[in-house]
Amino acid sequence: MEVTNVSEYEAIAKQKLPKMAFDYYASGAEDQWTLEENRNAFSRILFRPRILIDVSKIDMATTVLGFKISMPIMIAPTAFQKMAHPEGEYATARAASAAGTIMTLSSWATSSVEEVASTGPGIRFFQLYVYKDRNVVAQLVRRAERAGFKAIALTVDTPRLGRREADIKNRFTLPPFLTLKNFEGLNLGTMDKANDSGLASYVAGQIDRTLSWKDVEWLQTITKLPILVKGVLTAEDARLSIQAGAAGIIVSNHGARQLDYVPSTIMALEEVVKAAQGRVPVFLDGGVRRGTDVFKALALGASGIFIGRPVVFSLAAEGEAGVRKVLQMLREEFELTMALSGCRSLKEITRDHIATDWDPPRARLLAPKL
Ligand code: FNR
Repeated sequence: MEVTNVSEYEAIAKQKLPKMAFDYYASGAEDQWTLEENRNAFSRILFRPRILIDVSKIDMATTVLGFKISMPIMIAPTAFQKMAHPEGEYATARAASAAGTIMTLSSWATSSVEEVASTGPGIRFFQLYVYKDRNVVAQLVRRAERAGFKAIALTVDTPRLGRREADIKNRFTLPPFLTLKNFEGLNLGTMDKANDSGLASYVAGQIDRTLSWKDVEWLQTITKLPILVKGVLTAEDARLSIQAGAAGIIVSNHGARQLDYVPSTIMALEEVVKAAQGRVPVFLDGGVRRGTDVFKALALGASGIFIGRPVVFSLAAEGEAGVRKVLQMLREEFELTMALSGCRSLKEITRDHIATDWDPPRARLLAPKL
């Protein structure tokens, strides 16, 4: 049957993939409270659409760190895409480029930065996990720069891997025919089987738990690329990110895979936006599955959003065509949401186009002061 929305790909992926792979993609940390909340919170935001506005022309184009893209919908880094489909990251890169938007490549991709660059033109960001061995980091960043990547998304919410119980039960590890391609030549490309999650053990062995704000400054000494701090959830850390020289902030809870019972990203967004005071752009990822979700994030001050799981699920279902379709469906839904809300360009989307559960009751705002 025809796929008519992004969420439908999850069930198709579940049928097609081995259980270990599907569970790795789908699951969140511990009770998965935040996983559900990332979706549920969007339903606590309703529209205040404006009517009788000529919406015959809708412009969704925008600029991210100076790069022009066709819509504020981008691709988040997700690891091991060849576990979903043989073409993995190649397919994602081609689909993003065809849609005129940005792909973020994971450090833990199953295709290297050079291989992804060889798929053709496209604006791409590189997601960085900081290894204990800083020579490894410096080499990788240099390779990403040379391969034409335009920014570094520094993931800051993963000093240790969150407790993903499905991966523990499945003794998750990469299938033997795949490697972490960016690290192959560095003897860090394989993941041993462990008595729990193989990935959790890999992280414990290789990823630098000492990572701190001064390392954000260190990173700027080894690269000229702009740095997006990925994993901010509070006003305090938004301010520190800017102080440390970040070019942008990604409000993210890692798709609810790290600390459980953190708020949904859509609820954390406004606090971060206010703290950023327009000094750097703020982006969001987590639970975006509809064009209406994109609109809500922009109304709360995001400059754009990223999608994670929809990419791996649609890859599993239909390869590049699936990812193209996901981007196309989100684009069309977002365009329709804009039209039905009376917004012709992104700058016309305002806070007044939505009402959230956490807004003070309007009646009180409107009542004359006694
Ligand atoms: C991720 N995410 C992630 N983040 C990151 O910085 N580096 C990575 O390698 C990965 N890998 C990864 C794998 C899988 C299977 C998932 C689901 C997520 C987090 C990702 O970038 C993003 O924050 C979330 O996926 C966004 O939430 P949604 O769209 O999946 O709900």
